Amino acid sequence: MSHSRMSILEETGYVVLDSWGDPVDPSEWRDLTYVDWKSSGDTRFAPLKSAYGDIECNGFWHHNPPKADKDGVDVPHNVSRAPSLMKRVAEVGARVGRCRIIELQPNTYGDALYNSHLDDNNRLNPDGEGWVVRCFMQLTDDRDSVMVLRYDINDPSTETRLALPAGAQLVVDSERMWHSVWHPGSDPRYCLITSFESGPELEDWINRNNPRTKIDGVPIDAEYAATMEASAQARRSARTDYYGYDPSAVYSEA
Ligand SMILES: [Fe+2]
Repeated sequence: MSHSRMSILEETGYVVLDSWGDPVDPSEWRDLTYVDWKSSGDTRFAPLKSAYGDIECNGFWHHNPPKADKDGVDVPHNVSRAPSLMKRVAEVGARVGRCRIIELQPNTYGDALYNSHLDDNNRLNPDGEGWVVRCFMQLTDDRDSVMVLRYDINDPSTETRLALPAGAQLVVDSERMWHSVWHPGSDPRYCLITSFESGPELEDWINRNNPRTKIDGVPIDAEYAATMEASAQARRSARTDYYGYDPSAVYSEA
């Protein structure tokens, strides 16, 4: 399959943009209807666009008729409560697939490594169309939390940790980059996650927002990192033994 991809994501698989400046009223994520949907830990999701507008989060390819992760349909109940978030998504100008708010309960760095995964973004994506990538727009001001990205989940030297203050905007080729969020603290983290089709519209929006493709990343204590790495890899191995295969080798449908 050949899809058109954006050159800006070619080297590092992510791009960090300037923060989205205007504050968002927390009611835009607190007053939505969430569904239990597990991804990378203890999570729930509030869909803003789903396959056909229902309050559900399943991959678009599971519906009838099945479709690629594009042309998501507004979920009226949640969209009506999140006007500025919907404006923010529309302003990008690119084709939108799944669009949801994730709620993530606090975890450890080891939990994040254990739950790291690749996304199933391009199932049924027609040959020749744009590759689907994910945009993460951070809602809560989680200054001690980071998105943990790796090229190779088994190689810590390939890791970059991206800060997640309120308004942080990241675009990630999340089918290529292992990812999860390390979220210490006591309250859940909320983030708007949108599937966008790669193409000139998304590229223009990225270029208007001061893109940076190489970030030094947030430092981590080496001893803590080594301890967590060992425990996470042991848990990953035990999980592989239990299932008879590595479940994280299967693209995540969340
Ligand atoms: Fe993911």
